[in-house]
Amino acid sequence: MTFDRVREAAVVPSAFDQDASSYDRLVGANPGYFDHLKRSAARLGLPGRGAGLRLLDVGCGTGLSTAALLETYPEAEIVAVDASAEMLAQARAKTWPASVRFVHSRAEELGAHGVDGPFDGVLAAYLLRNLPDVDAGVGDLRDLLAPGAPLAVHEYSVADSPAARAVWTAVCWAIVIPLGWRVTGDASLYRYLWRSVLAFDGVARLQGRLRAAGLEAVRVEPMDGWQRGIVHTLVGLRPM
Ligand SMILES: C[S@@+](CC[C@H](N)C(=O)[O-])C[C@H]1O[C@@H](n2cnc3c(N)ncnc32)[C@H](O)[C@@H]1O
Repeated sequence: MTFDRVREAAVVPSAFDQDASSYDRLVGANPGYFDHLKRSAARLGLPGRGAGLRLLDVGCGTGLSTAALLETYPEAEIVAVDASAEMLAQARAKTWPASVRFVHSRAEELGAHGVDGPFDGVLAAYLLRNLPDVDAGVGDLRDLLAPGAPLAVHEYSVADSPAARAVWTAVCWAIVIPLGWRVTGDASLYRYLWRSVLAFDGVARLQGRLRAAGLEAVRVEPMDGWQRGIVHTLVGLRPM
């Protein structure tokens, strides 16, 4: 299977634009989706309720990962960024405290849109796989972290396990792609999801990218449910 990451990634946000109004309904049918985001938020390992902390949710989509951060650290200031105007419109239409701010920007252009560090924690949920240059993306996020602060990458990664690849393909073709087609009338985003995950890093390679970017104490933590071995949290710290 050939998969041109750079060509596909350039148009991913516009694909999300088209399906934004159905996104929450579709992921709501995925058991564990929100709980797993909350688990990754908690795995940032920040103290207490987040009072005085500044957090970044990059690739926030309709705000589900933002809500996971907010529930976990209700007293933090949260900046949530996405490149899809329609996904952001869905996010902004929800009720948020004044401590949450949404910004329309590609992850590669945060500085140009007024999103500057340092952040006390960054969550990138289902984003990295969509970037044309994953290493540059990890480097950019590292640069936004305060010394000692964590980056949590929440991502599908199946390349290291034939069993995980088989389960992923079965779930996509039995449920995700038919459901996407039924709800939106066009399954292209969901076929992209299937192919982009198969073409993406295994856990070892992804962990290596975080280490190569200079992050320390990089660890990988699992999910439960059908996502066991398929969705992972990788956490690494910017050196002090
Ligand atoms: C699968 S959604 C995940 C949304 C949210 N984090 C969640 O967990 O529900 C991926 C999001 O990444 C955004 N995205 C893709 N490429 C991006 C980029 N280069 N910069 C910023 N956002 C991007 C898409 O627009 C989409 O909203």
